[in-house]
Amino acid sequence: MGKSSPLPHLSVPPMLPLLCLVLLHVSASWATSDSDFDTFVQCLTNQTKQPDTVSKIVYALNNTAYTPVLRAYIRNARFNASYTPKPVMIVTPTNESHVQAAVICAKQNGIQLRIRSGGHDYEGLSYVSDVPFIILDLFNLRSITVDIAEKTAWVQAGATVGEVYYRIWEQSKVHGFPAGICPTVGVGGHFSGGGYGNMLRKYGLSVDNVVDAKIVDVNGRILDKISMGEDLFWAIRGGGGASFGVILAYKINLVPVPEIVTVFQVQRTLEENATDVVYQWQTVAPNTDENLFMRMLIQPVTSEVMKGQKTVRATIMALFLGKGEDVVTLLGKEFPELGLKKENVEEMSWIDSVLWWNHYDNGTSPDVLLDRNLDSADFLKRKSDYVQTPIPKDGLELLWKKVIEIGKPGLVFNPYGGKMSRIPATDTPFPHRAGNLFKVQHSITWEEEGIEAQKKYLTQIRNLFSYMTPLVSKNPRSAYLNYRDIDIGISHNGTYEEGKVYGVKYFNGNFDRLVKVKTAVDPENFFRYEQSIPTLPK
Ligand SMILES: Cc1cc2nc3c(=O)[nH]c(=O)nc-3n(C[C@H](O)[C@H](O)[C@H](O)COP(=O)(O)OP(=O)(O)OC[C@H]3O[C@@H](n4cnc5c(N)ncnc54)[C@H](O)[C@@H]3O)c2cc1C
Ligand SMILES: *[C@@H]1O[C@H](CO)[C@@H](O)[C@H](O)[C@H]1NC(C)=O
Ligand SMILES: *[C@@H]1O[C@H](CO)[C@@H](O)[C@H](O)[C@H]1NC(C)=O
Ligand SMILES: *[C@@H]1O[C@H](CO)[C@@H](O)[C@H](O)[C@H]1NC(C)=O
Ligand SMILES: *[C@@H]1O[C@H](CO)[C@@H](O)[C@H](O)[C@H]1NC(C)=O
Ligand SMILES: *[C@@H]1O[C@H](CO)[C@@H](O)[C@H](O)[C@H]1NC(C)=O
Ligand SMILES: *[C@@H]1O[C@H](CO)[C@@H](O)[C@H](O)[C@H]1NC(C)=O
Ligand SMILES: *[C@@H]1O[C@H](CO)[C@@H](O)[C@H](O)[C@H]1NC(C)=O
Repeated sequence: MGKSSPLPHLSVPPMLPLLCLVLLHVSASWATSDSDFDTFVQCLTNQTKQPDTVSKIVYALNNTAYTPVLRAYIRNARFNASYTPKPVMIVTPTNESHVQAAVICAKQNGIQLRIRSGGHDYEGLSYVSDVPFIILDLFNLRSITVDIAEKTAWVQAGATVGEVYYRIWEQSKVHGFPAGICPTVGVGGHFSGGGYGNMLRKYGLSVDNVVDAKIVDVNGRILDKISMGEDLFWAIRGGGGASFGVILAYKINLVPVPEIVTVFQVQRTLEENATDVVYQWQTVAPNTDENLFMRMLIQPVTSEVMKGQKTVRATIMALFLGKGEDVVTLLGKEFPELGLKKENVEEMSWIDSVLWWNHYDNGTSPDVLLDRNLDSADFLKRKSDYVQTPIPKDGLELLWKKVIEIGKPGLVFNPYGGKMSRIPATDTPFPHRAGNLFKVQHSITWEEEGIEAQKKYLTQIRNLFSYMTPLVSKNPRSAYLNYRDIDIGISHNGTYEEGKVYGVKYFNGNFDRLVKVKTAVDPENFFRYEQSIPTLPK
């Protein structure tokens, strides 16, 4: 146990027999032994300022609440299987001093922590590992304090972005925050990994609007922006929190939003000139007025008009921070191929646009943003890419053939430009700024249980990813940390060589600085996981 134990492969199906062995090994070595468990709990009790609450925040395997607590923030059904490796215990702090104690005691007992806030990690790295581990689950630490006079808010890591939007909206109809589109995404992972949403062309990423933070470091100390220093404060704004400590909270600057915003959705199949629309989109969407964000979804579908033949559908979903008639006029000039008309657009409040993006029915109350929708998820796999040169029309036509042939995975194009291009690539660890036209999310979602379905769909998305190679960024082929993908590299032994493989893809030229910060703040590499920032070789 501890530093020297090798990390076997994570839970991909072909590794199943090995995983079971590892799991048995885990159970035999930790916490079926009452004495390990008791020592840990005793340590927590000694270290926290609230000793009498410890029994209420610790869930051992034999606790009937262990499984519901574990499942509550599993957001990918791939990691909800009987063979998914399980934590030896779950600790659910209700007080910051519980977090401090958990760090000190895990270190003392030579056991790794996995830190979970909203649980949306696409590879489950906040709650799955093949080494013995404890989940530090922050869902109870989710207070949000909005200061509307100062236009700021303190947001605890366990809050969701939907709760952030809701609490801002309660106090002001003309403020918002640029963060993820899905309301159940957690602040702890989302902000520490960058965080983008449909206002990124106007206001940048979530981390571009973070002004302070509170973190528990490897020595169990609580640090803020001043006491943690410039380097660590830089690292936890895009470098991923879990390599550096436990983020307790971020302080954010609210951003202005108009009282009325405009949304629209337009769809075209290949028979309706989708190729022309997508081709033009590549130069319009990243260069147009930064009040306009036009996401493009590419999906294989069965054509209604073409008698059940397969085709590709391009869907544009857009948010315009302004009036409907203005965006119609704008796109009439800049994007005639789209043919946007007045009847295609809809004006609404910013908070209603949050619901619209999540396909809630017109008239749904914003209260749904407080719904944590526990214990249900589809099977997911996501991958990412960056496009820096427009894909030519013949390239798109070949891509459509491939999309139809492969069958299920889709692509989501998220345009950059605007504010994103004006922020230097070294300002935060997130390096994908000027020069990137758009980010691609490769996406597959399925509902069938079982290993065979999983194998089939993982192969499909990997084939599409492989096909995209000539069309996307190279040396490195860049990736977005929050679209976690263990195919691009994984750490088995926590060394620099292993960390560099995925590290340069997520962080390009910022990787070296992240390694330096990591080495300075956590030289023994306690805060490590399967894709953490490594320390420099000693
Ligand atoms: C349905 C869905 C929609 C999404 N939409 C978007 C989107 O619109 N925009 C976007 O940018 N991303 C999006 N994502 C990706 C999302 O931003 C990342 O998965 C993000 O890391 C999730 O944060 P979390 O707290 O929910 O995840 P978790 O799984 O809890 O954590 C993710 C990572 O952060 C670490 N971490 C979590 N909390 C802390 C903490 N307090 N301190 C230190 N480390 C911590 C974890 O250990 C893990 O490594 C989406 C994901 C899903 C599943
Ligand atoms: C549950 O397991 C822990 C650790 O093994 C042990 O200390 C505790 O007594 C057990 N509780 C019950 C109710 O069996
Ligand atoms: C807890 O504190 C007591 C009293 O100071 C000490 O005897 C004991 O060793 C400590 N236990 C742990 C696990 O830290
Ligand atoms: C955490 O515990 C300390 C010590 O008991 C207490 O002063 C503080 O108010 C608690 N914080 C919260 C948020 O409950
Ligand atoms: C597709 O393009 C052709 C040629 O420019 C045009 O005549 C036709 O109306 C377009 N179809 C749609 C659905 O826009
Ligand atoms: C949504 O509801 C509002 C108010 O009830 C109404 O004015 C608007 O037309 C509706 N929009 C759609 C697309 O149904
Ligand atoms: C996990 O699986 C159980 C059935 O075993 C199911 O009830 C639950 O909804 C699933 N949760 C998630 C997050 O997939
Ligand atoms: C760690 O793993 C890498 C490759 O996965 C290997 O090259 C290296 O020798 C290993 N280092 C140690 C110290 O085990």
